[in-house]
Amino acid sequence: MNSLILCVVTLATISNCLQLPSSFQKCDRRRTDFNQCLSKAIHGAITSLEKPLKSHGLPSLYDVVFPPNLFIEFGNSTYGLKQQFKNLRFTGLSNPQDVTARMDFGPVTSTLTIEATYSEIKWSSEWNAEGTMVLLPLNVVTPVEVVLVEPVFTLKFDLQEYERGGTYFKVVGSGFDIQARSFRFDFKKLFSNEGLNREFNSAMTEKGSEIIALFQHVLQIYAPFFGAMFDGFLEKVPVAELFDG
Ligand SMILES: *[C@@H]1O[C@H](CO)[C@@H](O)[C@H](O)[C@H]1NC(C)=O
Repeated sequence: MNSLILCVVTLATISNCLQLPSSFQKCDRRRTDFNQCLSKAIHGAITSLEKPLKSHGLPSLYDVVFPPNLFIEFGNSTYGLKQQFKNLRFTGLSNPQDVTARMDFGPVTSTLTIEATYSEIKWSSEWNAEGTMVLLPLNVVTPVEVVLVEPVFTLKFDLQEYERGGTYFKVVGSGFDIQARSFRFDFKKLFSNEGLNREFNSAMTEKGSEIIALFQHVLQIYAPFFGAMFDGFLEKVPVAELFDG
């Protein structure tokens, strides 16, 4: 169907019907190489989001700054350490080396899985700690950076179709996972003693994978954020615009 006509017709009923951005490749779901095409298309789309795409409600993926209500908190300030990570941020997500995407079409729910491989991604936040470390009293606020070395980000979106003067997808579930070869920790000013600070970061880095494994479940806080980001796009672009066939 001519997509322009589809959008014009739909425009009468709702205000935000958009075509696929010209920088996004359109794939034919009837073809056997659909997932390969989709992988290329999504790789291109992620790369183009070096800059935001305001028309389609998509922010820049180069520097993803999470809202202040998204934070990580655990620990006990009397026995142990109460810790809070806030102002969370990923830098470099617009620059994947490789992307594998797969769409599993179901009768009710279809699932899109995206695996993006990077050489390096920087995660940063502000760390707030109150309590004791071993037995040493600690009360500190410091920036922290973690470099994820050769990470693979996996995003999953469960999609359901609905009618709104055209068929659209809605994100009804989302998943998020990170695997990486190693993690380089850098608490900028945890201790005033620079030597101790440096040695502490190097000890953390040595055990990086073990530490991250403990907090794998915490990563789920990111899933709804990416789900909502994608949903904002799908709300504007009808299914017939996303794929041929
Ligand atoms: C910390 O944990 C102890 C032992 O479970 C508990 O008695 C105490 O109230 C906790 N303190 C805070 C500030 O939550």
